[in-house]
Amino acid sequence: MRIAMIGTGYVGLVSGACFSEFGVNVVCVDKDAAKIDGLRERGDIPIYEPGLEQLVASNAQAGRLSFTTDLPTAVAGADAVFIAVGTPSRRGDGHADLSYVYGAAREIAAAMTKYTVVVTKSTVPVGTGREVARIIREVRPDAEFDVVSNPEFLREGSAINDFMRPDRVVIGTESERARAVMRQLYRVLYLIETPILFTSLETSELIKYAANTFLAAKITFINEVADLCEKVGADVHDVARGIGLDGRIGRKFLHPGPGYGGSCFPKDTLALVKTAQEYGAPLRIIETVVDINAKRKKAMADKIIQFLGGSVAGRTLAILGLTFKPNTDDMRDSPSLDIIPALQAAGANVRAFDPEGMKEAAKHLANVEYADNAYACMDGADALVILTEWNEFRALDLARVRSLLREPVMIDLRNIYTPEDMEAQGFRYSPVGRRQIG
Ligand code: UDX
Repeated sequence: MRIAMIGTGYVGLVSGACFSEFGVNVVCVDKDAAKIDGLRERGDIPIYEPGLEQLVASNAQAGRLSFTTDLPTAVAGADAVFIAVGTPSRRGDGHADLSYVYGAAREIAAAMTKYTVVVTKSTVPVGTGREVARIIREVRPDAEFDVVSNPEFLREGSAINDFMRPDRVVIGTESERARAVMRQLYRVLYLIETPILFTSLETSELIKYAANTFLAAKITFINEVADLCEKVGADVHDVARGIGLDGRIGRKFLHPGPGYGGSCFPKDTLALVKTAQEYGAPLRIIETVVDINAKRKKAMADKIIQFLGGSVAGRTLAILGLTFKPNTDDMRDSPSLDIIPALQAAGANVRAFDPEGMKEAAKHLANVEYADNAYACMDGADALVILTEWNEFRALDLARVRSLLREPVMIDLRNIYTPEDMEAQGFRYSPVGRRQIG
């Protein structure tokens, strides 16, 4: 089997590397010549993702994975061509911008030389697959092809494991010929008995949005319950466990925090809201989720200010964690991008440390002082704020933290410490949805 992967962003690069690990011959294509050169010549991985560098290196060495800017050569003779280009939110209306997807479809159409399965891997709104098929047919009325929707559910930070051991694989197409090609590509997953769901094109496209928006709603639900816990004196972790043990609810994605961010949930919730409105079947629950999550980020800045006595003017706040989640350098829609400016607007001086995100953060945040490590960050600061739950922040030497801070005050928006421990260590401590100390 030979495939072409168009787009070497997160999804494209991880999927390409993982398919090559499955034994498939993969050519990854991107228009960005510098990126391709870096990948080909030096194995430079443009994103931070644990395990990806090794996976790319070993498969490139084995000759199963290669990189090029030459789309026509990569597509010619391929059994399947995956479209994994970006689908950012369109400025203004929240719709997914499909110009890259349709552009890729045109180029693929012009380059196909035999029966080809064209697979949309990018998250695309319902109806996109049909439009891709229409475009290909328009460019190449003679071409033999099928269009398949095969959404990717991988999470940043655990992308390789998610790809290699998924809960399920969804394949949307009515064509038996295309199904056979997809079965062959995912042969390794059949061996480990991964459920593989064959659906229609539209159903598959909707599954991806329904999954992501459901998870965003689940997080938003527990965030609101956390706020209520603070008011009534309940503990949100116990509530999450108490409801999560009910198999109908499930334990995952019930961790409260400063609101969801990242490259998928914010964009996909907005896009599905738009699609649903356009089709006259509004998803009011997701409209509300979008609204609550946006407001939550500002509310988190207010929570910090409140805990610090109502004013942060002239005070130095040490912020640990900038990325939207750990084990990534991704800053897209990270809560820190709203919380930090709000604290600065209230007069705070912000000093920050993040193990991987500072370079990216510096492009988006102004007037932040960046520290070399967590302890340098908090040295002489008035309070410590945890914004992202990197493992290294879970194991801080609390005696040292106490001695470095002007006062032992921690606001922990990820609940990586417990009220009991922080009380024992003599901190004033503000978690989310749990007992506050001081
Ligand atoms: C998500 C989906 O999980 C994945 O299936 C899809 O393909 C892409 O979008 P990702 O954005 O990488 O993956 O991260 P995820 O781990 O799902 O976290 C998303 C956001 O939700 C983060 O901001 C995270 O902090 C937040 N979150 C997650 C919570 O606040 N609480 C939780 O319990 C879980």
